[in-house]
Amino acid sequence: MRAIPGIALALLCLSATIKARSNYLPLADLGYAIHRATGYNAAGDYYNFSNIRYASPPTGNNRFRIPQSPSTDRTVVQDGMDGRVCPQASPIWYTAIARDFVDHYLKGIPFNRSTDVLDYPYNPDPRDPRETEDCLFLDILVPARIMLRASDPIRGPRVPVIVWFHGGAYTTGDKSQFTGASGLIQRSMAFGDGVVFVSINYRLGAFGWLSGPELRESGNANAGLMDQRAALRWVNRYIHFFGGDATKITVLGESAGAGSIMHHITAFARERDERDLFQRAILQSPAFIPIPDFEQQDLAFHQFLNILNVSSLDQARNLSSQTLIAANAYQVGRYSVYGSNIYGPTVDGNLVSALPGELILQKEYKWYMKTMLGQNADEGLRTTTPDAIHEDVYRRDLRRTFPQIQPNTIDYLLRRLYPPVFNGSRGYHDAVGRASSVTADYGYQCNNYYLNEAYEGETYAYLFDVSPGLHEDDVQYTFYDGDPSKRVNATVAWALQDYITSFAMDGVPRSTIGPEFTPYGPNRTMMDLGGTGIKTIRDPTDRERCKWWQLGFFY
Ligand SMILES: *[C@@H]1O[C@H](CO)[C@@H](O)[C@H](O)[C@H]1NC(C)=O
Ligand SMILES: *[C@@H]1O[C@H](CO)[C@@H](O)[C@H](O)[C@H]1NC(C)=O
Ligand SMILES: *[C@@H]1O[C@H](CO)[C@@H](O)[C@H](O)[C@H]1NC(C)=O
Ligand SMILES: *[C@@H]1O[C@H](CO)[C@@H](O)[C@H](O)[C@H]1NC(C)=O
Ligand SMILES: *[C@@H]1O[C@H](CO)[C@@H](O)[C@H](O)[C@H]1NC(C)=O
Ligand SMILES: *[C@@H]1O[C@H](CO)[C@@H](O)[C@H](O)[C@H]1NC(C)=O
Ligand SMILES: *[C@@H]1O[C@H](CO)[C@@H](O)[C@H](O)[C@H]1NC(C)=O
Repeated sequence: MRAIPGIALALLCLSATIKARSNYLPLADLGYAIHRATGYNAAGDYYNFSNIRYASPPTGNNRFRIPQSPSTDRTVVQDGMDGRVCPQASPIWYTAIARDFVDHYLKGIPFNRSTDVLDYPYNPDPRDPRETEDCLFLDILVPARIMLRASDPIRGPRVPVIVWFHGGAYTTGDKSQFTGASGLIQRSMAFGDGVVFVSINYRLGAFGWLSGPELRESGNANAGLMDQRAALRWVNRYIHFFGGDATKITVLGESAGAGSIMHHITAFARERDERDLFQRAILQSPAFIPIPDFEQQDLAFHQFLNILNVSSLDQARNLSSQTLIAANAYQVGRYSVYGSNIYGPTVDGNLVSALPGELILQKEYKWYMKTMLGQNADEGLRTTTPDAIHEDVYRRDLRRTFPQIQPNTIDYLLRRLYPPVFNGSRGYHDAVGRASSVTADYGYQCNNYYLNEAYEGETYAYLFDVSPGLHEDDVQYTFYDGDPSKRVNATVAWALQDYITSFAMDGVPRSTIGPEFTPYGPNRTMMDLGGTGIKTIRDPTDRERCKWWQLGFFY
C-alpha cells in the first residue's frame, strides 16, 4: 500500500501529540490544594482530574450538617488515584423482588413470589472498598486542548461546563459510575470548542437526607442538597483553572440527580446571591417521593437512632464510620417500603420551604433558568409493586407511601383519576400498568409537567422512547461511548448527546443527525427519541392528573 505523505505526516503528528500528552500530565494549583491530572485518555483526547476534594470530611462533629470548606493542604501534589464513593444502601424490595418482577412482567410471565420484604433475608451487599464517609469529591474531564490553553499564560476563551448529578434514589450511586462521558465530549466538538465535564458525589441515605424537627435542633436537613450547592460553588470558583467558563454552567442530572436539580430551581428563589450557581439545567426523569410530613421524617430519624442504640444525634456523631455505614445500609435495606428508599429531599421549612410543585404554583422558582426536560416512556414500572393486582393490598401500599392520605382521597385517585379501565383509553392495559401510571405521575413525569407549565412552554422537552423505555434506560444513551458491544441504538444516543451538549453550549438543542428541536410552546411539543424514528410529538402527560398531584391533596 502506498503511503499518502500528507496523511502519514498528520498521523505521525497526531501520535506524537498523544504520546506527549500522555507523558505530560498538567497541574492545577487551586491554592488550597495542588492537583495533577490523574490520566490522559488518548481515544477521547482528554485529561481526567479525579477525586478533587470540594468540602471538609463530613465526619464526626460535621456529620448531618451543611458541608464545610476544605482546609488547605499543599504538602503533596494530589494525583486523584484514591477513589471515593459515599456510603451506599439498597432496599430489599429492589434487590430481591423488583428486578425479577420487571423481567417477568415484560415477558408476560406471571410473578408468583412473595411481595413482602419480610419474607426475604437481609443480605448486605459486599462493601465497595472505595466507600467512605469522607466522600465529598468531584471528577473533571477536560479536552486536552482546553486544558493546555487554560494553563497557558495567554489564556484562550473558556468553554461551557456540564456538571453531572448522578441518580440512585438518594441512597446509591457515585460520580464515577458512568465514566463514558467521552461520547458527550466528542459530540460537543461539533458545536464549538467542546465542554468541560464535572461529576460530583453528594451524601446519600441517612448521611445526606436525615430530616425532621428533632434533627433540625442539632443538624441540617437536606445536607445532600447542600453538598450539591457546595460543589456548584466550587465549580463557580475553580473551574477556570480547567478552562471552564463559570458563567456557562449547565447542571445535568438523572432520577435523584434531576429531582435534586428541581429542588435547586425552587430553592431560595428570591435570594439574589443564590441565583447564579448555574444558568441552565437538563432534568432527566426528575424523581423523588414527596415527603412533606414532619411526622414521617421524624419516624425515619428515630428508626435510624434506634438501630444505632443511641438517643441523640450527638451520640451518633460519636460512633465509628463503620457502625453508621452498616446502620444506614440496614435501615434502607430492611425497612424501605416497596418503591421507596426512605431517604430523599424533604420539606424542611428552609431551603425546601414546600414541595417544589407547590412552590411553582406560588410562582417561587427561578424564572430565568433555561431548562431541557427529559422523561422516559415507562417511568413507573421499576418502582411499582406487584401487589397492584389486588386493589385492597395496593390501597395499603399507597397509604404506606403517603401516610396522611385519606380513604376518600384514595377513592378519588383510583375511581376518577386512574379508573380500572383497561382498554387503553387511559394509557394502561392492566392493573400493574395502572399502578405504574400512578407512580410515574407523582414520582417522575408530573415534575416535568410543572416545569413546562411554569416556564410557559419556554423549555425543550423530550421523551426517551426506545422500547421498553424504563426509568434509567436512558442513562447508557447519555453516556454512550461508541462501544458497539453495548445494547444501545447509536443513532438515538448520538442525537441525544448532540441535543444535550449543544443546549449546554448556547441554550438551543441542535443535532447533526436529528431533526430540529421545537420548543415546548403552547402546543406542548416534545421530541420523541424512539427506536423507530426521532420525531416531534405532543406531550402525552395527563394534565388533569398532574394538576391534582400538584395541589398536594395526598397529605
Ligand atoms: C482517569 O485516569 C486514571 C489513570 O489513567 C484511570 O484509571 C481512570 O479510569 C480515568 N478516569 C476517567 C473517567 O477517564
Ligand atoms: C410460579 O411460577 C413458576 C413459573 O414461573 C411455576 O413453575 C410455579 O409452579 C409457580 N408457583 C406457584 C405457586 O404458582
Ligand atoms: C444495638 O443493640 C442490639 C441489641 O443489644 C445489638 O444486637 C446491636 O448490634 C446494637 N447495634 C449497634 C449499632 O450497636
Ligand atoms: C463521645 O465519646 C467520648 C469518648 O468515648 C465520651 O467521653 C463522650 O461523652 C461521648 N459523647 C457523647 C455525646 O456520647
Ligand atoms: C374504554 O372503556 C370505557 C369504559 O368501558 C368506554 O367508555 C370507552 O369508550 C372505551 N374506549 C375505547 C377506546 O374502547
Ligand atoms: C401549534 O399548532 C398549530 C396547529 O398545528 C400551528 O398552526 C401553530 O403554528 C403551532 N404553534 C407553534 C408555536 O408551534
Ligand atoms: C435506531 O434508531 C433510529 C432512529 O429512531 C432508527 O431509525 C433505527 O432504525 C434504529 N436502529 C435499530 C437497529 O433499531
